[in-house]
Amino acid sequence: MFKRILVLAMAILFAAPSLVKADEGMWLPMFVKRLNEVDMQAAGLQLTAEELYSINHSSLKDAIVSFGGFCTGEIISGEGLILTNHHCGYGAIQDHSTVENDYLTDGFWAMDRTEELGNPDLFVDFLLRMEDMTDRVLAVVNDEMTEDERAQAIDAEIKVIKAEVTEGNDYIAKVKSFFEGNEYYMFVYERFNDIRLVGAPPSSVGKYGGDTDNWMWPRHTGDFSMFRVYAAPNGTPAAYAEENVPLTKELREQNDAFYHHLPVSLEGVANDDYTMVWGYPGSTDRFLTSWGVKQMLDIKAPTIVDIRALKLDVMKKHMNANSAVRIQYAAKYAQTANYWKYFIGQSKGLKRLNVFGKKQAIEAEYTAFANSSEENKAKYGEALTLIAEAYAAMDATEKGANYLSEVGIRGTDVVLFAFRAKRMIDQLIETEDADEKAGLIAQLEGFAAEHFKNYDAALDEEQFAKLFAKYEAEVDAAQHPSFFAHVNKKYKGDFAKFAAKMYAKSYFTDEARFAAFIAAPKAKKLAKDLAVIASGSVIQSYFGMGSANAEADAKLVKGNRLFVDGLRKMNPEKNYYPNANSTMRTTFGKVGDYVPADAVQYDYVTTLEGVIEKYVPGDHEFDLPQKFIDLYEAKDYGQYADKDGKLIVNFIHNTDITGGNSGSPVINAKGHLIGTAFDGNWEAMSGDIAFEPELQRTISCDIRYVLFIVDKYAGATHLVDEMDLIKGE
Ligand code: ARG
Repeated sequence: MFKRILVLAMAILFAAPSLVKADEGMWLPMFVKRLNEVDMQAAGLQLTAEELYSINHSSLKDAIVSFGGFCTGEIISGEGLILTNHHCGYGAIQDHSTVENDYLTDGFWAMDRTEELGNPDLFVDFLLRMEDMTDRVLAVVNDEMTEDERAQAIDAEIKVIKAEVTEGNDYIAKVKSFFEGNEYYMFVYERFNDIRLVGAPPSSVGKYGGDTDNWMWPRHTGDFSMFRVYAAPNGTPAAYAEENVPLTKELREQNDAFYHHLPVSLEGVANDDYTMVWGYPGSTDRFLTSWGVKQMLDIKAPTIVDIRALKLDVMKKHMNANSAVRIQYAAKYAQTANYWKYFIGQSKGLKRLNVFGKKQAIEAEYTAFANSSEENKAKYGEALTLIAEAYAAMDATEKGANYLSEVGIRGTDVVLFAFRAKRMIDQLIETEDADEKAGLIAQLEGFAAEHFKNYDAALDEEQFAKLFAKYEAEVDAAQHPSFFAHVNKKYKGDFAKFAAKMYAKSYFTDEARFAAFIAAPKAKKLAKDLAVIASGSVIQSYFGMGSANAEADAKLVKGNRLFVDGLRKMNPEKNYYPNANSTMRTTFGKVGDYVPADAVQYDYVTTLEGVIEKYVPGDHEFDLPQKFIDLYEAKDYGQYADKDGKLIVNFIHNTDITGGNSGSPVINAKGHLIGTAFDGNWEAMSGDIAFEPELQRTISCDIRYVLFIVDKYAGATHLVDEMDLIKGE
């Protein structure tokens, strides 16, 4: 009895200060009714949970799509029109750009449906439903299993579940772990893969402020682009085909599915207004322990920043010298720069906000809880020890692991290309079957066309030489890929010499040589190819790494699972939300300003005046098209102006988002679209590891700025016409 009272008292004591603030949390749609509806309505929401997420009728969630698996999009018309960010559509815009027709620089607008451009690699996923699979998945494990056996049993059960659910249909089922392996949920999707580019502003508008303004408020970026989802004439998913038609409610209903498009509000935002964001946040690490924070600060972040600075230098040099190369590497450069700056900001935030100390405080509470009874001790007592041991073991190889992935695997395009192409060529050499041969050759040709489209040999060679030289200098020899020895022996350790030979001679570094080789491939020549040697060796290190760390990995997985379970038992009153893992979530909060530093106050909106203030003619980040300046001078904002006649560009709100939420709809209390979320703010860059209620903000593009650009700048008024505009009182 006494013990129970003590535990209860401790729970109350420790629960209170760490209760989730209303704005923190990426909530699962299925639980909105149980966990969030009351709070959402108290915060101003005028809809019911059933109107947000339902499996029985159309609901708001039906308007939200995973955009290509890396961003979020939303349906904003009755004819499949999709809104997302410019930086989400960037790769597709790049794909359609040439030096002559440079849509990255000039923007692109389809003036009718026939001009909308297909994108073979793009898809959107509609979530049909989600289900709790925890009991079923955890029924196949027990405490006697090793972590390896446990993982295998779970994977096997997940396979069975997926097979059951997708039997006789074309759905995609995913079962994912939540709360570090304590819960499992299934998501059933329908994928559409005829997604056409409809419109994009010039990068000067869509990426205004470039890397200087990225991750920062105050912001003035028109970060949006538009696509359209097409279906076969009968409404089912289909690859690009001329006969395909825009997806509609009628077509969805013919196939027993739901369709919802968001009405578009011209009412704008005021301080304290309710907002919610729906989308596909990629990953957060909110349960990361102090050991993890330390590893991030001491090893991982500085290593990634250092490598990426070099990558960016080399890319920039070649991009500045040649317009074709500038287009080829635009998306790669932007992605590399985005997380280069992210890790700089994250480290600053982690230090300034003393996240290490905050994590230690949580761990101290946890330890007290774990020691509060024999039962707790038996169950939760070892978690932090396991975690500490795991990090102690992994710290020694963490830098090498980051080099392996940032330089080895993803440093230069040739490594993965050579590895994958070689596997197909091996088959080609092996087979006697003429049909199989023809098939493999066609596959290889397609693969090569895709690779070489965005490949510049001089850039790739310089990156290869510089990055691997850095790898050799920075990482312990014991962790070097085996081909470093070859470079040392045959090239006096000079990676530039090795690279010069490789890029001059390899079948994988030149499109014509590659084509000639696959027409008459020889195993002996393949084995001697320097790109094959280098890539094979990198991949071998990559697989070797996993088994070398298996023991520490197992400790970390088990430690984290117990730690998170214990934390939740320790605070039974608190609603925990799981880490982001590319599944659909919602977060709600309010529009609001913030205090980034002593004596500084940031307003919650920016205006077109601010865009013009930042304008630097000819600058690569702050230039603007003349037509844009003309529109500003005419001050003809029409129905897109705010109450006082100003044109609002971006606004901020305290919702909880992360990468992958890019393109997410910002929705008001009535369920109407008021913007698209595109960034987070500098002062809270540690937010993926610890949410900062006072500081953390979502940065969104006001929908009225989007419509102003579409209508007045681009003259694509037909797009505005197909939306349901809500004009307010
Ligand atoms: N930081 C934004 C995100 O991760 C991407 C912004 C893209 N803009 C840019 N200037 N690179 O969602």
